[in-house]
Amino acid sequence: MTVLLHLGLSFMTRKFAKAHVMCLDIHHVVRNKPFLCGMRSFGTDPNDSDKGSDAPVSTSPPCSRITSLSGKRRPLSPLERVSQLLPEDSLSQEVLELRDTRNNAVEHDTRSLWKEREEAREEPQSFASHHVCVPGERQICFGETLLAEFSRKRRLEFRKMFQLKDGMKLHSNWGFIAHADMEGRPAGIIIRTSMGIPILIRRPSLDEFALFMKRGPAIAYPKDASAMLTMMDVSEGDCVLESGSGSGAMSLFLSRAVGYKGSVLSLEIRDDHHRVAVLNYKRWRSTWSLRRGEEWPDNVHFHHGDLISAGPLLAGRGFNSVALDMVNPHLSLPAVVPHLHTGSVCAVYQANITQVIDLMEGLRCSALPLVCERIVEVQYRDWLVGPSLKKDGTFNKRKAPREDDECEPSEDTAGDLNCQDPVPFGDVPYIARPHPEQAGHTAFLIKLRKILK
Ligand SMILES: C[S@@+](CC[C@H](N)C(=O)[O-])C[C@H]1O[C@@H](n2cnc3c(N)ncnc32)[C@H](O)[C@@H]1O
Repeated sequence: MTVLLHLGLSFMTRKFAKAHVMCLDIHHVVRNKPFLCGMRSFGTDPNDSDKGSDAPVSTSPPCSRITSLSGKRRPLSPLERVSQLLPEDSLSQEVLELRDTRNNAVEHDTRSLWKEREEAREEPQSFASHHVCVPGERQICFGETLLAEFSRKRRLEFRKMFQLKDGMKLHSNWGFIAHADMEGRPAGIIIRTSMGIPILIRRPSLDEFALFMKRGPAIAYPKDASAMLTMMDVSEGDCVLESGSGSGAMSLFLSRAVGYKGSVLSLEIRDDHHRVAVLNYKRWRSTWSLRRGEEWPDNVHFHHGDLISAGPLLAGRGFNSVALDMVNPHLSLPAVVPHLHTGSVCAVYQANITQVIDLMEGLRCSALPLVCERIVEVQYRDWLVGPSLKKDGTFNKRKAPREDDECEPSEDTAGDLNCQDPVPFGDVPYIARPHPEQAGHTAFLIKLRKILK
């Protein structure tokens, strides 16, 4: 009763909070997040102080899905009705455990159904007895950053990045997993929640880390960051200038590209953004060393300051390439260009075409030895490709008759070959079409080359 009263009182506030979360998700569809939106479904312990780095992405109210999956409808209790409207990480431990217990009892039939479906995909739970790790990588350990994922029916239901901490739990509407149950296991393992739902636990790649890490300003989207590296032709050992640091996403890509022998100088005018970039860089390096057992070189030097007046800082330095992601980049070019090696590239990231026009006009009016070689927009087109399934989850079979498909039993199989039997290869039709959810516009990339005039 106390719990219900508590939930009832906080209901209105949480409702607004939820609406806010959904709006943010929609915003990220346009700017930077993967094209998933909806209610968050995963949260760490309520006492997790590290929420800033945990950016859950989910797509649907899970409980309603559970009900529809099982094909049965049951009335929701007042506790379920109210608590399902609240973000997971706002619930107390008491409520979470109460809800898990109820769900455990009532959703037993649904779990059995899911268990059956996932059985084939799942690693045996005795996996711990024969650990397999990527060469050079260790087993999962406390302190590192992990990614939890759950996909169903070709759809990513949720994805969450979190830091593994002793005594914590990864909570979800599908049950929880104790962080201790992941420790010592190989990354890429499937672990069942307290409700028996299989969750893939793996390490985030660099682009995933950048997408889900704590945000200050909007990041350079990974597809654009990669294209900029190509434009700039960044190689190991290069010395690169970047501005602004923003959230540090581009800095991470540059750090990785210049490697052990190179260095990156990253300038940021805003103190709050500078601190976010440094934090993300530290987290990336720390998770790298926990994963590999060796330090990632400290090759990015973040500087809090204005690029336009950075002449004294840049004096005596020469850069193999420059990456600019900031407003009015043409105003900072006079400070930057003298330090860019002749023949090298300055890649500029601009969200709006009007900003590109301002840059072009700024170049025309200046006497800078720069030529614009290319202006591109990087577009990924996601496709949906998979076997066509019936509603019950079994494969459809090709229906059209084929001339060469006559059923001629050999002597070996005569008597037991049935043309209706599923054939392992070629008889299952596929759906293959552009994914209905596509990432939108992110940026225009401008390639400027310094020449000798
Ligand atoms: C869109 S963010 C950059 C995001 C970054 N590329 C990333 O991937 O996280 C643009 C940043 O440029 C910074 N900025 C704007 N003008 C600047 C200047 N004159 N000098 C240094 N930084 C500047 C802004 O404060 C902002 O943090």
